[in-house]
Amino acid sequence: MVNAEIGVIGGSGFYSFLEDVTEVTVETPYGAPSDSLFLGEIAGRTVAFLPRHGRDHRLPPHRINYRANLWALRSVGVRQVLGPCAVGGLRAEYGPGTLLVPDQVVDRTKARAQTFFDGHPLPDGTVPNVVHTTFADPYCPVGRGAALKAARGRDWEPVDGGTMVVIEGPRFSTRAESQWHAAMGWSVVGMTGHPEAVLARELGLCYTSMSLVTDLDAGAETGEGVSHTEVLRVFGENVGRLREVLFDVVGALPQTAERDCLCTHAHDGWDLGIELP
Ligand code: ADE
Repeated sequence: MVNAEIGVIGGSGFYSFLEDVTEVTVETPYGAPSDSLFLGEIAGRTVAFLPRHGRDHRLPPHRINYRANLWALRSVGVRQVLGPCAVGGLRAEYGPGTLLVPDQVVDRTKARAQTFFDGHPLPDGTVPNVVHTTFADPYCPVGRGAALKAARGRDWEPVDGGTMVVIEGPRFSTRAESQWHAAMGWSVVGMTGHPEAVLARELGLCYTSMSLVTDLDAGAETGEGVSHTEVLRVFGENVGRLREVLFDVVGALPQTAERDCLCTHAHDGWDLGIELP
């Protein structure tokens, strides 16, 4: 029986996490996840790592099977998920190398499956009921606290809170779009933060986004505009310390049985119609 309690979903430029891993292939009722799960241990905690775009970055943000990814993680026992990702800064003070732990998300994606409760029958014939998930506070407060503390412990002063706007991609924003996002007061822009967080919530998982700014988005800078090469270069420069912070966060998260945050109450009062894995 393979098992892991904490999941880490690595984004662009983050394709491996642990040294000594067991590779596990998981199928889900929603199809295949982005890649195998790589199971290992940190600080006595069992961890499943999943490269969000696949280990060879073959999946653009709009083609990632987010439902399969979250379902696969839950099916091996994961109850708390850390979601590091590359984002663009929408304010001059959020330059490359900033670590922002958002507390809000705005969905500007266009065509992504963003619920498990859509009538898709499971292999055992059960069909999910209609469920309207409470999502006012999209991120786990306990995970956020652990992420902020761990970053500070590594001398990386993080930005505590802010809004991540998620665009459909795979193109970057125009200057006008970017200026609009900034004028709305949003903090950073990414392509994968939605529907990852809401699907985690639907499965009763804790989800914490850890957003690493790799560039100033087109409206916040005066140069040529964002390039993927630049995103990967800056992510590469910071992935070492991001990994160290993630190790510390993993060690600081509560044991599965001790969780009592709002994420664990996502289904209170609902008859889901299905058994979650
Ligand atoms: N990921 C990294 N930088 C980004 C940007 N500027 N816009 C959207 N996604 C990003």
